[in-house]
Amino acid sequence: MCGIVAYIGEKDATPVIVSGLRKLEYRGYDSAGIAVLQNGKIEIRRVAGKIEKLEKLVDENPTKGNIGIGHTRWATHGAPNEQNAHPHVGMAGRIVIVHNGIVENYLSLREELIAEGVEFKSETDTETIAHLIEGFYSESQDLYTAVQSALKLIKGAHGLVVMSTEEPDRLIAARLGNAGGVALGIGDGEMYLASDVPAIVEYTRRLIFLESGQVAIITKDGYSVNDLDGNPIQTEVVNVPWDPISVEKGRYRHFMQKEIHEQVRSLSDTMSGRVDFEEHRIHLKTLNLDEEKAKSIKKIFITACGTAAYAGMVGKYLIENIARIPVEVMVASEFRYCDPIIEPGTAVLAISQSGETADTLAAMEEARGKGALLLSIVNAIGSQAMRIANGFISMQVGPEIGVASTKAFTAPLLDLYMMAIYLADLRGTLSVEKRIDLVKDLLTVPGLVEKALKKEDAIKAIAAKYKSMKGALYLGRGVNMPIAYEGALKLKEISYKHAEGYPAGEMKHGPIALVDKDLPVVVIATRDAWYEKMISQIEQAKARNGHVLAVATEGDELIQNLADEVFWVPETPWLLSPVVNVIPLQLFAYHIAAQLGLDVDQPRNLAKSVTVE
Ligand code: M6R
Repeated sequence: MCGIVAYIGEKDATPVIVSGLRKLEYRGYDSAGIAVLQNGKIEIRRVAGKIEKLEKLVDENPTKGNIGIGHTRWATHGAPNEQNAHPHVGMAGRIVIVHNGIVENYLSLREELIAEGVEFKSETDTETIAHLIEGFYSESQDLYTAVQSALKLIKGAHGLVVMSTEEPDRLIAARLGNAGGVALGIGDGEMYLASDVPAIVEYTRRLIFLESGQVAIITKDGYSVNDLDGNPIQTEVVNVPWDPISVEKGRYRHFMQKEIHEQVRSLSDTMSGRVDFEEHRIHLKTLNLDEEKAKSIKKIFITACGTAAYAGMVGKYLIENIARIPVEVMVASEFRYCDPIIEPGTAVLAISQSGETADTLAAMEEARGKGALLLSIVNAIGSQAMRIANGFISMQVGPEIGVASTKAFTAPLLDLYMMAIYLADLRGTLSVEKRIDLVKDLLTVPGLVEKALKKEDAIKAIAAKYKSMKGALYLGRGVNMPIAYEGALKLKEISYKHAEGYPAGEMKHGPIALVDKDLPVVVIATRDAWYEKMISQIEQAKARNGHVLAVATEGDELIQNLADEVFWVPETPWLLSPVVNVIPLQLFAYHIAAQLGLDVDQPRNLAKSVTVE
């Protein structure tokens, strides 16, 4: 879950690496470090804390060289202090490494190394790799083969970059399993490396993504990629279309706020190139489906984690309603432990912003192993979840930096809606009239989201009133039930307040006991098939002195009179209402956390891509 950046070329490596780490801080932010080869010596600067401390340190105590590696850490083994921060050096000081992943057998390796006389300076598992590589290096005098040999001994999933004093003209990078990506960025007489594209997209958009089991030798003029046995591998250069501006905060105080506001554009972008406005048809070419394949699908499993899993729950309603294919949703961390029944005709659809979430990738592997048709909806271009699927939908929303996912929640909602129409169309189960209506409805969404965003000031004022609350209960029904889960998750992850999302109808079976004057109840009560039931929910909460905050359709006087506060949203076709209804809940959580002065973009204990299981 850490971030890695490296550089080799003619430039001063330090600013390139440090600014790259800044862009990856969302991946981990408890400590950071950089190593640069300076006059044949490894110069290391490390800090406990955020990248700004590293920036200060390299200002006060500069490093200068044309080759270097850097790291921002999310601690797994060892406290987040300076000693445990990467890079880590081998005992003889000849090799230095940055690493993402967990060495599962590090305890036994560490004991063996200690028995051989190695002295450890940190509590990290990574340091074992540094010593192993250095041990092999003394035998082979070749960094590439030393890395190769060490990789064969370590268990687990890894992404790493290694540099040596003896070979100042090359970096070695490797990927084993799904501990996060390793991308090589091709420049002109220079090469960049990063665990994630935003770190280097300002310099180059020509990228190669290492697959598991690949080791790359990188010089300033090029690269070669081999498998673990040294066999050369042909790699594909991917042109990444991201705009570097989108990884800057612009006029917003936080990335999360910027990304919430970007949703008008990102929702249009996710539709772009997929909607035939004349025919009112959807085309999702990258799903690689034809009529025959689409007709053969008998069941879809949706698997994902966190916010992406809530998008999947909405997807169940959309696909079942529009395409009439049964859908089961399962969080990825459970998927492979339930021995899922995958029969001919089962498709497994993974949803992931990063495309590198370890649980989601493990679920995909389980599905592939059982012969499922593997599909994905992914944001990060070139990520593992995009590459290993038989077909995919790219969210097309640009990088999402805030740890709390917002635009990468709403885009897949539209993608799932489009996928449902596309599947139904291919299977011949959708009437022309219904298809036209569904596509027309789809096109109204960016405008409706824009209207919902215009209420930000009112939502900010409500947040000011409720920012001291201890927690909240979020209730929704039907297609908006997952929006209650998502609203609660947004609040808890950035404001550290306990919040629980609940299917509204389940209130009376237990949670209603919690309701009193101190527990705000957030109710999604827009005009849809469950509206009347939600009104009785509000009545029940009010009867117990609960404070009701309702997401309601503009002009709804009944709710205005019943609820204590109202988050107004424009009237929206019901299948698309989750996209609009989640907007005030994102803004409410954001303004509470911002007003409490919390670290909105990098909340404690979290990281943007969770590459550990
Ligand atoms: O990159 P992914 O979409 O696979 O990430 C899944 C979850 O880790 C992610 O949605 C997480 O729950 C977010 N912090 C939610 O805001």
